[in-house]
Amino acid sequence: MLKIMELRHHTIKFIRDWMNAQGFWEIETPMLMKSTPEGARDYLVPSRVHPGEFYALPQSPQQLKQLLMVAGIDRYFQIARCMRDEDLRADRQPEFTQLDVEMSFVEQEDVLQTIEDLMTALVPAVTPHKRIRSPFPRMTYHESVERYGSDKPDLRYGLELVNVGDLVKDSQFNVFTAALTKGGKVQTIRLPGCASYTRKQIDELQEVAKIGGAKGMAWMAIEANGTVRSPIAKFFTPEQLQALQSAADADPGDLLVFVADKPAVVAASLDKVRREMGKRLKLVDKDEIVFGWVVDFPMFEWNEESQSWDAMHHPFCMVNPEDVEKLLHNDLEGVRAASYDLVANGYELASGSIRIHDREIQQRIFDRLPYSPEEIQQRFGHMLDAFEYGAPPHGGIAPGVDRLIMILADTDNIRDVIAFPKTQKAEDVMMNAPSAIDDVLLNDVHLSINKSIKSSKE
Ligand code: AMO
Ligand code: AMP
Repeated sequence: MLKIMELRHHTIKFIRDWMNAQGFWEIETPMLMKSTPEGARDYLVPSRVHPGEFYALPQSPQQLKQLLMVAGIDRYFQIARCMRDEDLRADRQPEFTQLDVEMSFVEQEDVLQTIEDLMTALVPAVTPHKRIRSPFPRMTYHESVERYGSDKPDLRYGLELVNVGDLVKDSQFNVFTAALTKGGKVQTIRLPGCASYTRKQIDELQEVAKIGGAKGMAWMAIEANGTVRSPIAKFFTPEQLQALQSAADADPGDLLVFVADKPAVVAASLDKVRREMGKRLKLVDKDEIVFGWVVDFPMFEWNEESQSWDAMHHPFCMVNPEDVEKLLHNDLEGVRAASYDLVANGYELASGSIRIHDREIQQRIFDRLPYSPEEIQQRFGHMLDAFEYGAPPHGGIAPGVDRLIMILADTDNIRDVIAFPKTQKAEDVMMNAPSAIDDVLLNDVHLSINKSIKSSKE
């Protein structure tokens, strides 16, 4: 742990010096502020001076860094603490650190190049035993999901997904044809050298696919003599079987696994299978970091729960100029944002975008989201007002510092890289936080606890 803390120190020191040399100013922004829409729940702080009112702790300094651009700061960065009340995972903590960056008078290319240059300089400086590949490959969001089933693919190995819908649509296998008729998809992954897998091994892998939502996982083993061993082979003509093998580039000795379902389920399930097999087949070299850029994210995503459109990243992303017409006609499905993610070894390392700097377009985006006009004024009025003064075109990004250290330190648990991390249930068990506070303090901030509430620790 000491070694990791030392690596973290060196990494942050390197970042500060590098950003300084590039003309960035480090500016601190407040912690007691107002809700910002990064998609998680806010942590709230009750006000003593204003009874019944609350501050929100920042989920990120997003709006503040944009306002700094309006104020005339050319290049900003901050090693920024962010707080998000969300379900925790192995790469998520309730409070974490971002290298928050914003630049004025830039295009997407400038932001990508800056961060690519930083990572390319940083990795050998702090972890000389690690290798990286340059330049970082780029792909669109759709390409990434189509080829890897994920928008944060591990690019250290292939095992790409192959779409075989066209080849199986005339087969007799009802699971595939039914999924296609319903607008779904059939994709396969070729697992090299796995034709000898036993039923038990295949069943285990099917359970992995099911975590992603698949109802099953069909398979075909290509035996050494070229024959196909598979419970579903009987539903395909010899030509169809041959075409499937060619499409997947399968050789004798390989195993093909298939999932048929809604596109999102196929992607999520085969992503799980791909990651599992990447590990099992030992396709990763732990001393290699493979970065990649995923660009052209959709601006909006449909929220089944609220039956409304949400901003996929956040509502301040610039719409791709080619898609403005669609936005005007309320055809939100295909609208792309000028937003991008940096991925590394299967993690989403950073997210960013070119921002809207025009009041009209910003208003239009808010209008498409489930906010009332009053709510827009109340939550974002300051942004719209600021844009009135003439905002420079600007854009930025925020790499997660903790995830960066995880990758540099070869750990898959974010708690290993944070001093005093929280548990899965967002507790600090050493300090016993959160904890009840006494009535005098509660009174000061004009709160009382509903007596029917039981502590989760009782
Ligand atoms: P986003 O919400 O994608 O973007 O966050 C950026 C990066 O921060 C890291 N991260 C986390 N790390 C640990 N625990 C968490 N709970 C957590 N949540 C996020 C990830 C992620 O890629 N304001 C925008 C950035 C921008 O547009 O400039 C933002 O916060 O590495
Ligand atoms: P069944 O018709 O349920 O006996 O399934 C036959 C084969 O198809 C089994 O190997 C299942 O695992 C597989 N299977 C079932 N549902 C799917 C699906 N949605 N996608 C891919 N394979 C499936």
